[in-house]
Amino acid sequence: MKVTIVGAGNVGASCAEYILIKQIAEEIVLLDIKEGFAEGKALDLTQTKSTLGFTSKVYGVTNNYTKTADSDIVVITSGIPRKPGMTREELIGINAGIVKSVTENLLDYSPNAIIIVVSNPMDTMTYLINQSFKLPKNRIIGMGGILDSSRFKTYISKATGCSQHEIEAMVIGGHGDTTMIPIISLAKCNNKLLTKILSENQITEIASNTMVGGATLTKLLGTSAWYAPGASVSYLVNAILNDTKEILPCSVLLDGEYGAKDLCIGVPVLIGKDGFEEVVELDLSNKELEMFKNSIKAVKETNSSLIGLI
Ligand code: NAI
Ligand code: 2OP
Repeated sequence: MKVTIVGAGNVGASCAEYILIKQIAEEIVLLDIKEGFAEGKALDLTQTKSTLGFTSKVYGVTNNYTKTADSDIVVITSGIPRKPGMTREELIGINAGIVKSVTENLLDYSPNAIIIVVSNPMDTMTYLINQSFKLPKNRIIGMGGILDSSRFKTYISKATGCSQHEIEAMVIGGHGDTTMIPIISLAKCNNKLLTKILSENQITEIASNTMVGGATLTKLLGTSAWYAPGASVSYLVNAILNDTKEILPCSVLLDGEYGAKDLCIGVPVLIGKDGFEEVVELDLSNKELEMFKNSIKAVKETNSSLIGLI
């Protein structure tokens, strides 16, 4: 199996590292526009083979798409990240052009690849690819919800003392500070509903920490996070390549599901070797349904900046 990652920066390189360590794919190509950068990252990663014990191969290339040919999955992380105080939505001006041209190049050499979109604003970038290339929608998947859910689980774990592995919790909606929806009504620790274990105030704090989880890290790091984002992408890559049929929150094109149409937004989807197989409808509380409606409105508003690009 071959995976191409475009953008050998923080998220791209971290994603490559996890795919290698877990031997999720046999071959990874890292591609970046910065001369020598992807080659350097690939060489550095290759020099961890003997200490970390993996056998998969990683190559780095500067803007040479011939080397990406016949990839099973392509991951798009190219673009600029947010700086402290910036929203993801503010990145659209630069990232939309980059994401569109990168996708065009990738499809020339891997016309059947499944595309994982990471660059922000991720829901809008996923929609841009859907609208620009008219590929089967199951092959275009935006990653944000897996990361946001891992942050939700981290804060639940801190508040309850439950191990993250014993927590079931999901974040859907847009991948934005005000658009994501931690599904409180269904969150569970050790099979017990969170609403039965914690007070309303504690739950509200967990939800708001989750929603600004990315901004908190951006403030601490001076740029956006990469370990959990890279790990989340590698988790999705594994689910696709190994046809795990897991239900994961991903941004996909909706056509009536959750009462929404003509946008990409985070919903639970069944993941398999062909991409996402179906959208899974959750039994949400009235408050969560209302939040989902507002999220749809906000994501569509951001999508309106794409006029002229599609
Ligand atoms: P970074 O700046 O470390 O890496 C981006 C890389 O893209 C750079 O190395 C740059 O040279 C490269 N690049 C730019 N234009 C290119 C082009 N036309 N072709 C090939 N490569 C190109 O940024 P980082 O931290 O890796 O973030 C990447 C993107 O992912 C950002 O837009 C960020 O907001 C987003 N992100 C999304 C997350 C999600 O959950 N969806 C989580 C974390 C970051
Ligand atoms: C994150 O959530 C900024 O999307 C990036 O860390």
